[in-house]
Amino acid sequence: MKTIAHQQCMNPACRATYDVAQTRTACGKCGELLDIVYDWSRAMVPRSLKLFETRWQRRRFPLDHSGVWRFRELLPFAADAMVCTIGEGQTFLQNAQCLGRELGMWPGQLYLQYEGLNPSGSFKDNGMTAAFTHARLVGARRVACASTGNTSASLALYAAQNGFQGIVFIGTGKIAFGKLSQALDYGARTLQIEGDFDACLKRVREVSSQLGLYLMNSVNPFRLEGQKTIMYRILESLSWDVPDWIIVPGGNLGNCSAFGKAFQELRELGLVKRIPRLAIINAHGANTLCTLVNKHGLKWNGGHVDNQKISALYAGMDEANYHPHTLASAIEISRPVNLKKALRALDVMHGIVHEVTDEAILEAKALVGRFGMGCEPASAATIAGLQQLLANGTISRHERVACVLTGHGLKDPDATVYYHTGIKTKDAKQPPAEPTWGRRSNKPIPVADDLKAIVEALGIAHETLDQAAAGYVETATGNFPFVEY
Ligand code: F0G
Repeated sequence: MKTIAHQQCMNPACRATYDVAQTRTACGKCGELLDIVYDWSRAMVPRSLKLFETRWQRRRFPLDHSGVWRFRELLPFAADAMVCTIGEGQTFLQNAQCLGRELGMWPGQLYLQYEGLNPSGSFKDNGMTAAFTHARLVGARRVACASTGNTSASLALYAAQNGFQGIVFIGTGKIAFGKLSQALDYGARTLQIEGDFDACLKRVREVSSQLGLYLMNSVNPFRLEGQKTIMYRILESLSWDVPDWIIVPGGNLGNCSAFGKAFQELRELGLVKRIPRLAIINAHGANTLCTLVNKHGLKWNGGHVDNQKISALYAGMDEANYHPHTLASAIEISRPVNLKKALRALDVMHGIVHEVTDEAILEAKALVGRFGMGCEPASAATIAGLQQLLANGTISRHERVACVLTGHGLKDPDATVYYHTGIKTKDAKQPPAEPTWGRRSNKPIPVADDLKAIVEALGIAHETLDQAAAGYVETATGNFPFVEY
């Protein structure tokens, strides 16, 4: 059986390929990230994006209802029967008249793509539906991620609804309570690691390969396939016109990478005439991409990225014992795993990177809230960035701009309360915790940043490990229902 899709190393000097039936998060030859690549000549891609509009008439069919899978011809790696969808992507592009006016933009030119309306309250659901579909294809049972909060909430939700065991790694004191509450409520086993997100991600990658867990972070190339659809929905809302700018917060840099891939493919398929520019906004206290691009001149350079510049910056961080720090906890990341894919997206979309302070983020968040939308701090980085890019003339007031509001305002009520009252609810002196009494209480498990301790805390019995691994690594091409030609 030949499939339309395969996995391919993103490094142009390698380009090793792997079957879609394999579970990989990196190239086995050179260690770089993988892309999902399609043989478009054999896919059923519509000649015009407008044809996707007919899907809405058939919305009683779950795949046509999903804001991800109604574009399935643009991510054709799985047969319909394998798709894990819970109605994600019912998000909309709001013409933000009042906010636009407040920022001094021409009327009607500012749009907000409100991804907080997803089932778990953030854009992550777009990617999770795709990665869970792949997990189902390869027969995985246990899924894991490291998270600053939203990935864990989304993973826990999809795991609970689709019969997987969810395991999440979070940094101690690093996660907004709205997001933590979701992971606990949806029954994910929640390990609270002594360390930050970067430490958690390193550990979850080790633990996943040791225990055969299916990894759901954005190093999983299938996640990014789902996130491409955020761009399709923006175009759809604009009657398939292309905006001048897309603005997105940058954390682990999966989302911006997916946007770049979406437009690269749409151009290749002749479905768009032009590509919008991309602005990625870092928080000042977690500004790795911004530093590398704007200070050190790091570029995609046809895939020949100057690794020296990256390792020198990371070595400096290690030496200074540097840890990222921002109130926008969702993007508090200093070693973004999708760095090179983001450089590629900047290249495709003629993009720029900008950084904003926490103060600017909170002011922008208050503006978004004031005009009746609301978002979490990381999402408001887009508006803070836009404000500054308008002020310095990078973006003109007459240009049409779509900002992606990545997460719901209720994800991080502490940040909102702090802004409006000065009370740091997280730091407030807490009375000792009462013993939990709920029959379904699911407490986070505190654990040292140590592989052995983590494996023990997971308590996955050794006799079940082989079984777990069977659905995992390097599954031979079997009779999986991929899209065939
Ligand atoms: N906005 C929100 C609300 C997020 O939760 C994240 C990432 C980002 C922006 C950044 O997106 O990583 O694709 O650049 N949150 C991840 C998590 C890291 O674990 O929930 P990115």
